[in-house]
Amino acid sequence: MRLYEGCEPDITLTDIAWKRLWLSALELKRTLDQKAPFDFPGKVKKGRSLLVGEGNLSFSRSLARIVGVAAKNMTSTTFQGEDDYTEAMRANARVLRRSGATVMSGVDATKLSKWFGRSKFDLLVFQFPNVGSRNPLYGRNPNHILVRRFLKSATEHLTGNGIVAISAVNSPHYDGAFDVDGAAERNEYEIPVAYPFYFSDYPGYTHVKTKDDGASAVGEGDEFVTYVFHRKKQVARKWMLR
Ligand SMILES: C[S@@+](CC[C@H](N)C(=O)[O-])C[C@H]1O[C@@H](n2cnc3c(N)ncnc32)[C@H](O)[C@@H]1O
Repeated sequence: MRLYEGCEPDITLTDIAWKRLWLSALELKRTLDQKAPFDFPGKVKKGRSLLVGEGNLSFSRSLARIVGVAAKNMTSTTFQGEDDYTEAMRANARVLRRSGATVMSGVDATKLSKWFGRSKFDLLVFQFPNVGSRNPLYGRNPNHILVRRFLKSATEHLTGNGIVAISAVNSPHYDGAFDVDGAAERNEYEIPVAYPFYFSDYPGYTHVKTKDDGASAVGEGDEFVTYVFHRKKQVARKWMLR
């Protein structure tokens, strides 16, 4: 069926349906709050940073190179034990240690106190969190549960102005699966601020999958987002003077 007969003879209902579908898919993509990427190097230079789930440690290695002597402010951790490191991971760990960073293996991002006691950090980072499984946990996507538990654990280890940064693929699929807003809300963080993330800003950063199951495949043409979480300000109501 043609619409607007006599006015725009080339527009059909199918054209409009497709256009709507396309626009809605675009809208579902997270609208970025910032134009420039989050300044990981700037933040690392200003205080202590903890990076979790670092996979092959290539993001940490690239970041350490960018920040120079401030690499001593970085603690980079992997979920895998050091026995499971590939030669490339060992090489990255060596370079990081030489540059002054601390490298730790076998660290669970959802139970940080077990490794870090009462230590506080100005920045906590989890690049592309992924459990490598699609089996629901408590009826929710397992990656949402991972993010939620990481944010909860992080609350014990943030300095007063400390923040959490999580990068992910910017797509409706990932936004729905991770539900970062819900995870923030549940753990007393503000709704996260969305920045663009570009791999090209971090030479040598080669993203790895959790398992070779395609669960976190980063595809060509994908766009990426860094969500930055700030704690909600606690209001000290009890002793306020009138
Ligand atoms: C998609 S990979 C990304 C790895 C790396 N951050 C990167 O950007 O290339 C997801 C990583 O999350 C890690 N991971 C999964 N569950 C974790 C947990 N509970 N604590 C810490 N890391 C975890 C996996 O070991 C894996 O390295």
